[in-house]
Amino acid sequence: MNRAVSGFSKKSKTEKISWLADNYLKDCPGAIQILEKYWNEDPNLQQLHDDFIENTISNYYLPFGLAPNFLINGEVYVLPMVTEESSVVAAASNAAKFWIERGGFKAKVISTEKNGQIHFNFYGSEKDIETFFDLVKPKLRDSIQNLEKNMKARGGGLLELSLLDKSHILEGYFYIHATFQTLDAMGANFINSCLEQMAHTFEEEARNFGIFREKGDFPEVVISILSNYVPECLVRAEVSCEVKALTTKNQDGKIFAEKFIRAIEIAKTETRRAVTHNKGIMNGVDAVVLATGNDFRAVEAGVHAYAARNSYYGSLTHAKIEDGIFTFWIELPLAIGTVGGLTSLHPLTKLAFEILQKPDARQLMQIIAVAGLAQNFAAIRSLVTTGIQKGHMKMHLMNILNQLQATKEEKEKALEYFVTNTISHSAVVGYLEKERRELGR
Ligand code: MEV
Repeated sequence: MNRAVSGFSKKSKTEKISWLADNYLKDCPGAIQILEKYWNEDPNLQQLHDDFIENTISNYYLPFGLAPNFLINGEVYVLPMVTEESSVVAAASNAAKFWIERGGFKAKVISTEKNGQIHFNFYGSEKDIETFFDLVKPKLRDSIQNLEKNMKARGGGLLELSLLDKSHILEGYFYIHATFQTLDAMGANFINSCLEQMAHTFEEEARNFGIFREKGDFPEVVISILSNYVPECLVRAEVSCEVKALTTKNQDGKIFAEKFIRAIEIAKTETRRAVTHNKGIMNGVDAVVLATGNDFRAVEAGVHAYAARNSYYGSLTHAKIEDGIFTFWIELPLAIGTVGGLTSLHPLTKLAFEILQKPDARQLMQIIAVAGLAQNFAAIRSLVTTGIQKGHMKMHLMNILNQLQATKEEKEKALEYFVTNTISHSAVVGYLEKERRELGR
C-alpha cells in the first residue's frame, strides 16, 4: 500500500485521525478513542494546544509535580517539575530538605550574553574581507535598528560584531560572531531575525564593494543562526556546610563527604560515568525547564557542549573539603526566558511562574541550576550509600502495579509488603500472582 500522503496539514483534525487509523492503526481498534480521551473538554484550551504545532491530533500528558523546601539565597521556593521519571521529584525534595537544614543553596548569575553567527564562504584575500568587514560593520548595526528598537529600549540588543577566519580549518570558511543581550527573553527569534537581516545587508553591501567587484571575489552567506552554545550565559549554584554537619543517623559525615568527592572525581575523569552523572543533573534541570515552557533541547545541547569544553567530556559538578567545610557546586550555561515563547501561552507554564513567585530570567537561571545541583546531590548520595535502586524501585513500584492493572486494594497491600521486601519487576509479578491465586481471582 502506498501510504504517502499529500496536503496532510490541510486536512481537519478528524480527517487526519481517520487517515491515520485507516493506514497505520488497522490492528488497534481503540486507537481513536485513546486519542480523543486526551482532548481537553474546553474547546478553546484544546485549540490553544492544537496551534502550538502542526498536525496536532491529541495531547500528551506528562506529570506536573512539586518539589518543596528549596531554600535559595534565603528564599524558600517550591519547584514545579515536569518529568516522566518516577524518582526525580522525590529525589529533588529529599535534597531540598537535606540542605534547608544546612543553610540552603546559594546561586548567582555569572554572565548573560547570548550569541549567533553569520557563516559565509569567501575565497579571496583575508585582508580584503577584513577591510570590508570594518567598513560594513556600522551598516550591519544600522540595518537592525527597527528589529532592535524594543529590546534596546529595555536595555538589551546587539552587543558586539566580530569577524572570525576559520579558513585554516575549512577552506574559505569565515563567520561574523554577534553577541546579544536579550534580558528576560530566551531571544532565539530576536537573534535569528537580527542575524538574517544583517546577513542580507552584508551580501548586498558586498555586491557594491569596489575591491570585490575588481577581483570578482564575493562573500556568500551559507547560514545565519543563533548558537545554543552559550558559555557566556553562565550561572553557578552551590551548597556548603561543615563536614560534621553531613553526619546523619545512617552515615558518618567525613566518610560520606570523602566518598562523595571521589564519585565526582570519577565523573571528571571517565566519560562513561560523566555522561550518566550529567544525565542525573539534567533530570532536575529539564524538569524545571519544561515546567516553565523553555526549550529543553537548546539547554541540553548547550550544557553537554559546555561539559566537553576542555576537549574531554566531564562532570558539570564539583566538590571539595577545605578547612573542614564541604562545598558542592555546579556551573551551567543556561539560555532561558521568562517572557515570550510558551511562557505566556501555556496555562500550566503561567502557573509555574506564579508558583516560582514570578522570577525574572536571572532568577530562573539560578533556580534551574539549583534543581540540577540538588538532583545530582540526591543521586550521588544514594549511589555512595544505599545504591540507587532502593529509592528508584520504590518510586517505580506504582508504575509496575499499574502495568499489571492492580486494583486500589491490591496496590495498598503491595505498598505495605514492599516496604520490607526488595522490589523488582519479577518480584511484583510474583507477589501479585500469589495474592490473586490466594483470593481465587
Ligand atoms: C537516573 O535517571 C540518574 C542517575 O543514573 C544519575 C547518576 O548516576 O548520577 C541515578
